[in-house]
Amino acid sequence: MDVEGEALVCIDCGRVHKPGPGVLVCEKCNGLLEVSYPKSVFGNVSFNGTGVWRYSSLLPKVDRIITLNEGNTPLVKAENLGRKIGLRNLYVKFEGANPTGSFKDRGMTVGVSIALKFGQKSVACASTGNTSASMAAYAARAGLKSFVFLPDGYVAAGKLLQAIAHGATIVKVRGNFDDALRILLSHSAELGVYVLNSVNPYRIEGQKTTAFEIWEGLGKTPEFVVYPVGNAANISSGWKGFIELKEAGLANSLPKMVGVQAEGAAPIVKAFLEGRGEIEPVEKPETVATAIRIGRPLSWKKALRAIRDSKGTAVTVSDEEILRAQVELARTEGIFAEPAGAASIAGVLKLSREGYFKGDDTVVAVVTGHGLKDPEVKIMPYAELVIQPDENPVEALRKLL
Ligand code: F0G
Repeated sequence: MDVEGEALVCIDCGRVHKPGPGVLVCEKCNGLLEVSYPKSVFGNVSFNGTGVWRYSSLLPKVDRIITLNEGNTPLVKAENLGRKIGLRNLYVKFEGANPTGSFKDRGMTVGVSIALKFGQKSVACASTGNTSASMAAYAARAGLKSFVFLPDGYVAAGKLLQAIAHGATIVKVRGNFDDALRILLSHSAELGVYVLNSVNPYRIEGQKTTAFEIWEGLGKTPEFVVYPVGNAANISSGWKGFIELKEAGLANSLPKMVGVQAEGAAPIVKAFLEGRGEIEPVEKPETVATAIRIGRPLSWKKALRAIRDSKGTAVTVSDEEILRAQVELARTEGIFAEPAGAASIAGVLKLSREGYFKGDDTVVAVVTGHGLKDPEVKIMPYAELVIQPDENPVEALRKLL
């Protein structure tokens, strides 16, 4: 469908909405919205500069850009890990290298700039941590008030500290993320806040730039892109990005999208494997990877479409597999991911054990958040020696080797 100017189109009924501060979901059927651009945009794509706004010809128009120079993250060839599992072209897209330590910054530079364009004074989100850290930082820079709704006791210490440092008002919800999101969405109008959860279609627009960078960094579309999945926005945004590259005549193929969820919070994987059209929410999601401890993923429909339309797959990983992958990545490649960020690696390890990939497939694992965010997580055994100031450590160290 062609649209006049930028429009917000319902993914379920196709209704076209004129953008505005109050437009979050479809006014007719409550479906999620997507930013659509006129066809002419795809005939005029040019990339200039660096980071997220390099791709501004495929991003919404804003009046003033609120940026921390996000994006342009390392695309690292993981040769050591790849060799171990028989993948000659394994890459890590390290999103932990963004300014606040996660991929959320890509979405927030767009979302907060749009909030300003719409004349908003305060922004809000429900979050397992990273969204709140990122939103608080960008809101601070834009001079906006921020409110974050967090599942009490289930946000990693570093993320909570970030939100506090950047001056957000913290609302601790005695429930899980799904409760926090429900409460925020049902009271946001009354509160007068602009919601920057991924229900906000502009956030996705920023996040799709990961796909653009992967394609440019490799000089081609990879065969597989593997994402950790929580609320399911990031994998959906990546798929939108790859489709747009093709639509613009830049890429000539599409990757297979692979979604990884933690065993205790895997409604999307379950629906995919059972071939069902709808997810069955998980009432009590549990996983050590608190960032993806989500039972009712908002963007489940978009994610299932991305996985199915791309002929990709979805896989669950146990907490133990996540923690092992975290250490494996840190100790073979020097990349430290938070547990949720390492879930994509755990998924790659599991799928390669099952013979899912061919040895020369190009596989990109999106590692979504930095390990420093979650200092309490249990790391595997390590070598340690305690010595006195006058003691020679050599003999004892030799024994440790
Ligand atoms: N990895 C990390 C580090 C995350 O923080 C999240 C989501 C995901 C993966 C999953 O991405 O939700 O788009 O499928 N964190 C959200 C938050 C929910 O509130 O920070 P998704």
